[in-house]
Amino acid sequence: MFRPLTIRDVTLPNRVGVSPMCMYATTGGFASDFHLAHLARFALGGAGLVLAEATAIEPQGRISPWDTGLWSDEHIAGWRRVTAVIAEQGSVPGIQLGHAGRRASVREPWRAGAPLDHEDAAEGFGPWPVVGPSAIATGPGFPVPEAMDPAAVTRSVERWAQAARRAVEAGFQYIELHGAHGYLLHSFLSPLSNHRDDAYGGDAERRMRYPLEVVAAVRAAIGAGIPLAYRLSAVDGIEGGITLDDTVVFARRLAAEGVDVVDTSSGGISTDRSRDTRVRRGFAFHADFSRRVRDEARVLTATVGLVVDAHQAARLVEDGDADLVLLGREMLDDPNWTHRARIALGDESYASWPVRYGSALGPRAGTLRRLAEAGETPLSRFTG
Ligand SMILES: Cc1cc2nc3c(=O)[nH]c(=O)nc-3n(C[C@H](O)[C@H](O)[C@H](O)COP(=O)(O)O)c2cc1C
Repeated sequence: MFRPLTIRDVTLPNRVGVSPMCMYATTGGFASDFHLAHLARFALGGAGLVLAEATAIEPQGRISPWDTGLWSDEHIAGWRRVTAVIAEQGSVPGIQLGHAGRRASVREPWRAGAPLDHEDAAEGFGPWPVVGPSAIATGPGFPVPEAMDPAAVTRSVERWAQAARRAVEAGFQYIELHGAHGYLLHSFLSPLSNHRDDAYGGDAERRMRYPLEVVAAVRAAIGAGIPLAYRLSAVDGIEGGITLDDTVVFARRLAAEGVDVVDTSSGGISTDRSRDTRVRRGFAFHADFSRRVRDEARVLTATVGLVVDAHQAARLVEDGDADLVLLGREMLDDPNWTHRARIALGDESYASWPVRYGSALGPRAGTLRRLAEAGETPLSRFTG
C-alpha cells in the first residue's frame, strides 16, 4: 500500500486515495474556500491521491445547485488553487467529472436528496429539466427525463472532453469519469434505463457506445500522459440490470479506449426505496468486484466501500483485490488516516508527515511511550 504506483506519466506516492465526495458547498460551480480547506486536509494527511468531488461537465448535469463544475473556463482558476496545495504536499490532485443525467436537480442528502420543487425555485434554486437515454424516471416522485436525441448525445461527448481539458489546465493529474450510481453514463449502459432503439441502445454493444465515445474523447483531450479512471456500478442489483459478467466485458472495452483504472462501485440505477437492492454493506463490500475485474479484464482497479483499517487496506492491495484503495467517510472522520495507517503498520518514524507536524509529533510519541511504560495514564493525576 505504501509503494508508489506509476500510471502513464504520473506517480502516486502510495496507493491510498480519497474517494470523491460531493460537498454541496458552492453555487455557480466554483471551487470555494471550503473545497480548498477540505481537500487540502487529505493531502496534509498523506493520501497519495486526492479526488475532488463529482464535478459537472454542464449546468444541467449538476446533481444539485451546489455542485462544483468545469463547464466554463472561468472555473479553472478556483481549481488551480486547490490542485496547487495538494501537489505541494506531494499528493496527486485528481477530479471526478460527472453528469447526473436523470438524477440531476435534487436537494442535498441532509434534505433527503429529494427533487427540487417550487419551494427551492422560490429561493432561486432550480428545478431544471433533466435528460437521459430514454423517458424513464429514476424512481417514484422523480422527473421523467427528456430522451437525448443523437445531436444532443454528440454535443454531450464534446462537453465531457472540454471539461476534461479544463481539468488538466487546472492542474489535475488524474481524471476519473463518473460512470456509476445511476448518473448519465450509467443510465446509457444499463438496460433498465436505456430503452433506445438507435445507435445508442438496443443491445449491450450499442448501450456501451455513449460511454465509450466519452472515454475516447476525454482521452484525446487530456493527452497520453494523464491517468484516466472510470467509476462504474459493477452491478445494478436489480433483475434485468447490469451483472458482474457484463462489467468484465465493459471493463475490457474501457481499457481498450484508454481507461487505466476501473473504480468499482455499485448500485444507483433506481431511486425506488421500496426495495433495498444494494450490495450488503460489509467491510470492503466492493472488493470481490474489483478483484474479478482486475483478474479478468487485466486492468488496474480501485476498490471503495467501508475500508476503514490499515491492515485491511494493506491486505486488499497485497492480496490483489485492487491496485488502489479509496476511502470516503473514513477520511472525513480522520483526514490523517494515511499517516496513522503507517504507524499502525509499524512505521513509527513520522517521516512521512509534513515536517511541521512530524517534527513535533515524533518526540511527543516518545514521551507518550515513556509514560505508558511507567504505568501513567492521562487520568493518573485524578485517580492517584
Ligand atoms: C458525503 C458523500 C458524498 C459522496 N459523493 C460522491 C461523488 O461525488 N461521487 C461518487 O462517485 N461517489 C460519491 N460518494 C460515494 C463515496 O465516494 C464512496 O464510494 C462511498 O461513500 C463508500 O465508501 P466509504 O465507505 O469509504 O465511505 C459520496 C459519499 C459520501 C458519504
